[in-house]
Amino acid sequence: MRTAIYPGSFDPLHNGHLDVIERASRLCDRIIVAVARNLSKEALFTFEERAELIREATWHVEGVEVVCFDGLLVHFAAERKADAVIRGLRAVSDFEYEFQMALMNRELSDEFETIFLMPSQKHIFLSSRMVKEIARLGGVIDQFVPPVVGGALTRKLNLPTGS
Ligand code: PNS
Repeated sequence: MRTAIYPGSFDPLHNGHLDVIERASRLCDRIIVAVARNLSKEALFTFEERAELIREATWHVEGVEVVCFDGLLVHFAAERKADAVIRGLRAVSDFEYEFQMALMNRELSDEFETIFLMPSQKHIFLSSRMVKEIARLGGVIDQFVPPVVGGALTRKLNLPTGS
């Protein structure tokens, strides 16, 4: 039984994240999508809102469990006996931060491997920050997020329906 953790802020989940979850589910028996507090980012959605949106958007993917965690990823990975941590890698600009984080985690614990998965090219430019900005400024985001997330953004940002 191979267990992988896919940690992230997911504020909110977008189609690039979903693509990575689908790819990871083909490699591992169990994917724990772990909604984490990122101390350097202020979240729009609460922990539980973010987790619930992911649950609703991933009902079709086998072996997915969605949880919230607070604290160090290495502690959470040990608690859940994870074999791997999955991270999506979009571009060279992600690499330095991801490389540093993976090696720091390895320094803290050698119990799991970090695996980088590339989302489909059609999602390579996506980020939660940009999706929120576009939505706030009245742009159409339907092609970037699962429908359940689009609806939640409309309500959270008090946008007119249909925008
Ligand atoms: O989606 P993000 O914001 O890029 O995810 C970053 C995240 C949440 C995976 C990272 O900040 C993290 O692992 N946070 C948990 C706390 C931790 O272990 N920090 C040390 C990382 S080396």
